[in-house]
Amino acid sequence: MNVKEIFDSMDYGPAPEDSAVAQAWLEGHDRNFDLFIDGAFTPAASGASFASKNPANGELLANVAQSGSADIDTAVAAARKAQPKWERIGGPARARFLYAIARLVQKHSRILAVLETLDNGKPIRESRDIDVPLVARHFYYHAGAAQLMATTMPDQMALGVAGQIIPWNFPLLMLAWKIAPAIAMGNTVVLKPAEYTSLSALRFAEICVQAGLPKGVVNIVTGDGRVGEMIVNHTDINKIAFTGSTGVGRRIRQATAGSGKSLTLELGGKSPYIIFDDADIDSAVEGLVDAIWFNQGQVCCAGSRLLVQETVADSVYAKIRARMDKLRIGDPMDKAIDVGAIVDARQLQTITDMVQSGVRAGHRVHISAAALPEGGCFYPPTLIAGMQSSDSLMQEEIFGPVLVATTFRTPGEAVQLANNTRYGLAASIWTENINLALDIAPKVNAGVAWINCTNQFDAAAGFGGRRESGFGREGGREGLFAYTRNTATTRPIRQISAFAGDPAAGSTGDGIDRTAKLYIGGKQTRPDGAYSRAVFGPKGKLLGHVGEGNRKDIRNAVEAANGARGWARASAHLRAQILYYIAENLSARRVDFEDRLRALTGMSAPKAKDEVAAGIERLFTYGAWADKYDGAVHNVPIRGVALAMNEPVGAIGMICADEAPLLGLISAVAPAIAMGNTCVAVPSDAFPLAATDFYQVLETSDVPAGVVNIVTGRHEELAKTLSDHDNVDALWYFGSAPLSPMIETRSAGNLKRTWVNHGRGRDWMSATGEGEEFLRHATDVKNIWIPYGE
Ligand code: NAI
Repeated sequence: MNVKEIFDSMDYGPAPEDSAVAQAWLEGHDRNFDLFIDGAFTPAASGASFASKNPANGELLANVAQSGSADIDTAVAAARKAQPKWERIGGPARARFLYAIARLVQKHSRILAVLETLDNGKPIRESRDIDVPLVARHFYYHAGAAQLMATTMPDQMALGVAGQIIPWNFPLLMLAWKIAPAIAMGNTVVLKPAEYTSLSALRFAEICVQAGLPKGVVNIVTGDGRVGEMIVNHTDINKIAFTGSTGVGRRIRQATAGSGKSLTLELGGKSPYIIFDDADIDSAVEGLVDAIWFNQGQVCCAGSRLLVQETVADSVYAKIRARMDKLRIGDPMDKAIDVGAIVDARQLQTITDMVQSGVRAGHRVHISAAALPEGGCFYPPTLIAGMQSSDSLMQEEIFGPVLVATTFRTPGEAVQLANNTRYGLAASIWTENINLALDIAPKVNAGVAWINCTNQFDAAAGFGGRRESGFGREGGREGLFAYTRNTATTRPIRQISAFAGDPAAGSTGDGIDRTAKLYIGGKQTRPDGAYSRAVFGPKGKLLGHVGEGNRKDIRNAVEAANGARGWARASAHLRAQILYYIAENLSARRVDFEDRLRALTGMSAPKAKDEVAAGIERLFTYGAWADKYDGAVHNVPIRGVALAMNEPVGAIGMICADEAPLLGLISAVAPAIAMGNTCVAVPSDAFPLAATDFYQVLETSDVPAGVVNIVTGRHEELAKTLSDHDNVDALWYFGSAPLSPMIETRSAGNLKRTWVNHGRGRDWMSATGEGEEFLRHATDVKNIWIPYGE
């Protein structure tokens, strides 16, 4: 071929990366790998192992030990033993180890990239230029986080031992996302790589040894899903961090329910890729190559659902088809390859089956004209246009190089389609109109929004989802809280029951019937079941009746709370003013509330005075926070900005404390509404009348209808309905009955965020009853990436 022909065809020959060093390393281990426990490679007790193969050609790379429960016990014991000392040496000392690891990752980047590509099938270009550099960056960033921990997070401490389960799509990068923040914050870890891709984790274990990391701080246990389950169910683990499929994530939510284990789940997605008609179409198409064909589409945040404005759809599709036909598919070790191999034959089969069963009449399928290599696990880049939102392929995660597409007419319709999914991980928005871009980014229900870019990641910016994409963030300051807890001490909570009295007592003594109603959608409403309950004072005196709310009332309240979501768009200034107004109105009626608290609970006059005063103060505090709990502009390495916006979580259910009937309610409602959430509050089960008086204060304080809904009734029954409800985004539990396990289990349905007390109480009168912990639970960080310039 002469130079002219080369210029015409733009064809080029193979450019294979040399795998000799990686192969020599495998040979050096006799292609047999043990578990890494307590600083040394240790054989699995059972002696069992499984094969790890190169998906591009089926060759055996190594046999890897299959852990059993005895091995997990040993690994957890090693991590437990190492943890107190690791925490005690302090952030700056830990930072040194993280720096050392980061440097060693850079130094050994070549072998790490090659191993990753051999094991996973991803193009060497990606493992070399994206995965491994991001791994090093993650350890550098978190070295800094450890260094600054005592200064920037003085009220936080390590959780203890973290069990971490990672997937196969970014084996080493997911390891870094899990291990770096965990050990930076003083935890020790037991990490399980995915069974298809264990090798880079084992090479990383050697780096830990080289870095002089104390024994037991990092333990790597290999094996399949059963090993994951052993970790999840281990009783001496404080935290589970999981990345993988939504199905397994849901099972983990159920398995850990009530165990007191902290949990973060980074699950699947079906992220929209929105192209408006004024976008730079060529850039958008090039971005799409990255969005759906990067890592063969095996990316949780892949832009797998293309939404394109109707006016430009035909030309966009034509450009995509032309680009797809030029993608080079083949040996992942070739430096010029765009699309490599699917991780395993089983995943290849899943993709094939999903596409076969999902394609219907009317769908327009285009398969890349590029030749597929013989043998190996390859799937051709595919575009399926003409989709309906309800089609299975528009809803289900394919996790392969398959793009599904449909069109929209207006920006409103684009948002509607984008949010028509049970997931909420990421979104890409392409338009040259900054007004439009910044209008759409907050409206998409996702943890990350990329404007005129896609698949941007950095350790300084948190990553994570909403809805069935999971909860918690990895990376950034927000991610550090997932590996720490507040240093405030808690104490076992005492279950508080209502006082008894004469059930036959008809009135409160003055002949007037006082039955407090529920407060739903800004109106006082009778309970659906028309039942009410007598409330007695400590000496058996009848104080009044409260409505006994049921499932229907909760459903109505949730509907009202969802109908009031416009509250999120009210300015923080307005929300602050309304909180101040509530405080003023409560202050005007303080004596009534003090009397009510005394009558209800038998507390002393000074105590009642203190509780009401603290409630007023708390409202002022959250009024103050409303316009001060700012987001951040993260320092990410792009020419542009990554805006970390604190968004409201949505509709929050809250079961309030019994031990502080008024203050407990205010302490939950005020931070939620300050951040723009709406809520369904279930007040103290034992002393509900303080709350029903409180809605009279709300009624006179300009709180829009539906922002705060109050349903009195039995905690157990109402908590069940709130946990089961798909339109409740988060559920907080501060009650005194042991309901935390039930709430966590039932909340697995829509994977709502839960914040439960596990039977531990807090001192509502002190600083532990308020503050940033509440604000963090009332918000989700959305990172909006905006590159700019030419
Ligand atoms: P998976 O969710 O089964 O595997 C992820 C990790 O969880 C692996 O380490 C696995 O060994 C472990 N695991 C499996 N069952 C477990 C259990 N019961 N308890 C604890 N750990 C368990 O994902 P899989 O089967 O490999 O892929 C299936 C689908 O999951 C993919 O097609 C894709 O849709 C999705 N997926 C999503 C990922 C993401 O990053 N969001 C990553 C990997 C898969």
